[in-house]
Amino acid sequence: MKALEGVRILDMTHVQSGPTCTQLLGWFGADVIKVERPGVGDATRGQLRDIPDVDSLYFTMLNHNKRSITLNTKDEKGKEVFTRLIETCDVMVENFAPGALDRMGFTWERIQEINPRMIYASVKGFGQGPYSECKVYENVAQCAGGSASTTGFLEGPPTVTGAQIGDSGTGLHLALGIVTALYHREHSGRGQRVLASMQDGVLNLCRVKLRDQQRLDHGPLTEYSQFGEDIPFSDATPRAGNDSGGGQPGRILKCKGWETDANAYTYFITQAAAWGKICDVIGRPEWKEDPNFSTPPVRLPRLNEVFEAIEQWTMTKTKFEVMEVCNPLDIPVGPILSMKELSEEPSLRETGTIVEVDHPTRGKYLTVGNPVKLSDSPVEVARSPLLGEHTAEILQEVLGYNAEQVSQLRGSGVVGKEEYSV
Ligand code: COA
Repeated sequence: MKALEGVRILDMTHVQSGPTCTQLLGWFGADVIKVERPGVGDATRGQLRDIPDVDSLYFTMLNHNKRSITLNTKDEKGKEVFTRLIETCDVMVENFAPGALDRMGFTWERIQEINPRMIYASVKGFGQGPYSECKVYENVAQCAGGSASTTGFLEGPPTVTGAQIGDSGTGLHLALGIVTALYHREHSGRGQRVLASMQDGVLNLCRVKLRDQQRLDHGPLTEYSQFGEDIPFSDATPRAGNDSGGGQPGRILKCKGWETDANAYTYFITQAAAWGKICDVIGRPEWKEDPNFSTPPVRLPRLNEVFEAIEQWTMTKTKFEVMEVCNPLDIPVGPILSMKELSEEPSLRETGTIVEVDHPTRGKYLTVGNPVKLSDSPVEVARSPLLGEHTAEILQEVLGYNAEQVSQLRGSGVVGKEEYSV
């Protein structure tokens, strides 16, 4: 049995944040029923398409292990079907613009009347407050959650990051809220409302920057490069380039080939415990006893000099050679890996972190599998559903409609007309 086997998810999600959450629940074994608008579906099916008329990678990579039913939930007959789905599911997940489900007539109060055990989980851009009605996408959340103001270089503009901390990050937060509410329901017998706002999620991931904001009241942030460069701090946590952000200074340094390879770099951390070994490796053994370099506090104003010396050494090695030398010595380093390198890395294929999936209209493609591994609940990554692929199956097997009722719903356009033989 999979960990979440027997849990049925009514998946009203679209784009990225909500689908990330329900995909994760599907990987843990939940039965995820994705409800999509007839003839339209999740907008991402058609966005950033690399092959004409084929579900995009944007969609396929966020919607594995789900079944798709098309249903017009604004139509009266569609609302009846939707009500039946609410009765039979354990969790409803949605990330529409604020109020969309209320406008359809499915308020939290109504949902509780239909099914008091229902857990109703939402992603919204903001929590309660002045911006609660706003529509929000990834980069808006990165900006409003504190990430952009603290990312990038001091002299440059605020910068967004490639990691989708607003969308996928909030989807992960929501998944935790859902399983927590499922656990609580075991004792209370009742469902509850779960809300994860993207601003809150990003801020949670930026918590160390709020830490630094408060430290600023008591003096400069000595581990930031700008301290050693005598650049004064303002009253807000600054952008720190590639500074490590922790108590152990680190930077991105050039490696052999950097002139032509955009990713020939390593991250190098001058962890205090490894300082003696670092000095030996880079050919500066005298720094071990030098009162200007021997301890972390005296090194802080000299980090530029320290990292320039280390870089002179890393530039003589490839990023992988740096790892081979440093790892046995417990010096924390990490190569800058490109998406190309990650997609070809055999060990990630072996652990199921990168998975090849076969899709009936797209063919084979790579995706990122479940990053969370449970020893007793192995994950099989199943391809994303075609639009409405399981409409008849769900109406008949889950809701008990007969073939004639299904054909009536199809005829009236309440559900989609798609029929597939895959
Ligand atoms: N049948 C009938 N109508 C349906 C439907 C179905 N099966 N599924 C969705 N709809 C309708 C909704 O009811 C809504 O209609 P309404 O505006 O008349 O109320 C509409 O389709 C879609 O709503 P909306 O969420 O506003 O889509 P959008 O494309 O305009 O906005 C977002 C997209 C992401 C900006 C917005 O959904 C949002 O802010 N979501 C919350 C934050 C979030 O998750 N953002 C990150 C996305 S990765």
